[in-house]
Amino acid sequence: MENKKIIITIDGWSSCGKSTLAKQLAKELGYVYIDSGAMYRAITLYFLRNHVDWTDTAEVNEALKNISIEFEFNAKSQQSEIILNGENVEYVIRDLVIAEKVSDVAAIKEVRSFAVAQQQKMGEKKGVVMDGRDIGTTVFPEAELKIFMTADIAIRVERRFKEMYEKNPNITIEEVKTNLEMRDYIDSHREVSPLRKADDAIEIDNTHLTQEQQLNYAMELARKVI
Ligand code: DC
Repeated sequence: MENKKIIITIDGWSSCGKSTLAKQLAKELGYVYIDSGAMYRAITLYFLRNHVDWTDTAEVNEALKNISIEFEFNAKSQQSEIILNGENVEYVIRDLVIAEKVSDVAAIKEVRSFAVAQQQKMGEKKGVVMDGRDIGTTVFPEAELKIFMTADIAIRVERRFKEMYEKNPNITIEEVKTNLEMRDYIDSHREVSPLRKADDAIEIDNTHLTQEQQLNYAMELARKVI
């Protein structure tokens, strides 16, 4: 008998390694990986480029009508990358300029409805691993496996700093720490779908885990359900 396809959600704080685990799990299981944070980042990029005043609901609604977001598998990088209105923005959206604004944009009700509807559509056929902040609570409350990731702030800052330093050697540890703390605060205190652990989510604290250990544990959890 063929294994049943499920939805796996991975939520948690910024820079906990959610996307690393999600990508590895998707690869092991032959599932599609969807980076929901990339969608909020792409919307933020569009708003910044087009000088959209996101405190004005009418302007936000108008702008959203002009946004099309897709994911496309890139054979070269071996990962699915985000396409905003036909342009590959996978790398541009990782800039600190976007990171500094994305939590404000992601807190807007209209933006969330827009993104959540597309995320739910992407999960219709199951066989999906999606990471974010509200995937187990709002996007797929019926998901078969929900993981909530945490890690010590010092470790998270160190990991994100290393990643960003490669692209921008002018960045400081302080800037990275301030940005992570600010995003965690806004993401967990907003009115619509704040970041929280779903009651039925399994917590993984990966402060002292290697990537291999964390993958093995998550695969064990997935196998039990599948
Ligand atoms: O996962 P990330 O750091 O790329 O996400 C960028 C921001 O988008 C994050 O600060 C909060 C927001 N986000 C969200 O509100 N809901 C999601 N499902 C995913 C991300």
